Amino acid sequence: MKELKPSKAVHGTIEVPSDKSIGHRAVLFSLLSEGPITIRNFPSAEDCQTTLNAVQELGVSLEKSGNEFILTRPESFSLTDEKAIDCGNSGTTVRLLAGILAGSPVEVILTGDESLSSRPMKRIIDPLSEMGAELFSDEGHLPLRIRGKKLLPIEYMMPIASAQVKSSLLLAGLASRCSITVRESVLTRNHTELMIQHLGEGMTVRIVKPIQVQDPDDPRKKKMVMPEKFKKEIVLTSQTKIHGGSVDVPGDISTASFFFAAAAITGGTVTVKKVGLNPTRTAFLDILKLIGVTVKIENKETVTGEVRGDVTVSSEKKLKARKISGEMTASLIDEIPILAVMGAFSDGTTIIRDASELKVKESDRLTAIAENLRLMGVKVGLLDDGLAIEGKTELEGADFVSYGDHRIAMAFSIASLACAGPSTLDDESVVGISCPEFYELLNGIRQEG
Ligand code: S3P
Repeated sequence: MKELKPSKAVHGTIEVPSDKSIGHRAVLFSLLSEGPITIRNFPSAEDCQTTLNAVQELGVSLEKSGNEFILTRPESFSLTDEKAIDCGNSGTTVRLLAGILAGSPVEVILTGDESLSSRPMKRIIDPLSEMGAELFSDEGHLPLRIRGKKLLPIEYMMPIASAQVKSSLLLAGLASRCSITVRESVLTRNHTELMIQHLGEGMTVRIVKPIQVQDPDDPRKKKMVMPEKFKKEIVLTSQTKIHGGSVDVPGDISTASFFFAAAAITGGTVTVKKVGLNPTRTAFLDILKLIGVTVKIENKETVTGEVRGDVTVSSEKKLKARKISGEMTASLIDEIPILAVMGAFSDGTTIIRDASELKVKESDRLTAIAENLRLMGVKVGLLDDGLAIEGKTELEGADFVSYGDHRIAMAFSIASLACAGPSTLDDESVVGISCPEFYELLNGIRQEG
């Protein structure tokens, strides 16, 4: 159990662990790459270690040299016995790896912990099976048995907004050297596409923009329409390949968001240096500006295909409530727990809609958020696809419950900073999934009251 105390306005400059999404991908690309992949600033997140262990089980060799990891694929990448690979708590590991293995000459069983075993895998099993993959599961849950083979081309319109599903298919195409077209009507994080461009060749990406047409109801007017049913089309051919190269992983903006929120709710200032600023991941910064927080970005640069910079967030503690729905929710999917906490300290009612996906994350996050907010004395409506949170200025401390979920544990540890009295958290160890250094970093910016 962790004891948590309130803090005066937080203050400080920190670096957060490297980006989990980019870290996973850099490791997994070693299974597909002709040459070695060098990773600088490998994330300390336990989830990324899980991915690293998995590729080593499959025969990838790891050489460590200072701040660099060099990963080299084995001569012949083939396993014939039914080897079990443990994907721990990590949805990204299992879903992306399943794509690669479905299109490779292997027979493998992917397993996971209790939380991962309850999460849906049908979302990758269905499209991979359409490509001819042989995947066997018990009603779409782990363990997932994979008999890898040469896959068939597919054109796939994404039915849900999921970067994991999109990436699983793209990596299956790369592993099997078959052509594949994936279309998205809601844009999701694009680290896989950027990494293919950075470490390989032969992929095309088309972004569809709205066009102006005459309004059929009033010929004097023009209106903007989408010429296609999708916003983005990614095409890989049988010629697309990964050569190898180096990936320098920036700080994880999803982890940084917890520290930015600490500044927002305590009226403090926090700078996070060298944090990833890929535009598909920065919606949280836009929301901060909309609710009345100042955001300053400096030293922006692109390193190995991804944008990074130093971000300073400062607040006067007067937060305005917002409605978050549609595409905005999709682009903030990992930040909803901490946004909900900011909502509790905002003026007005924060409404979060179109967030059903949160029910199938590391925990049922909608329930976990609602229950913890209620413990603090917040009025919360649990909706079928979201939450309605009535903001309050004075909130009590509480005995928070992590539900075994790193982002719930971090969100309510941050909430405790702005509560009137002390709080506790049942299990602080879960933060290691994305940020083992979380409490050390928090202690560095907290100010005793
Ligand atoms: C991730 C995609 C998202 C996100 C997860 C990481 C990725 O999941 O929530 O933390 O690295 O591709 P979904 O694809 O399920 O939305």
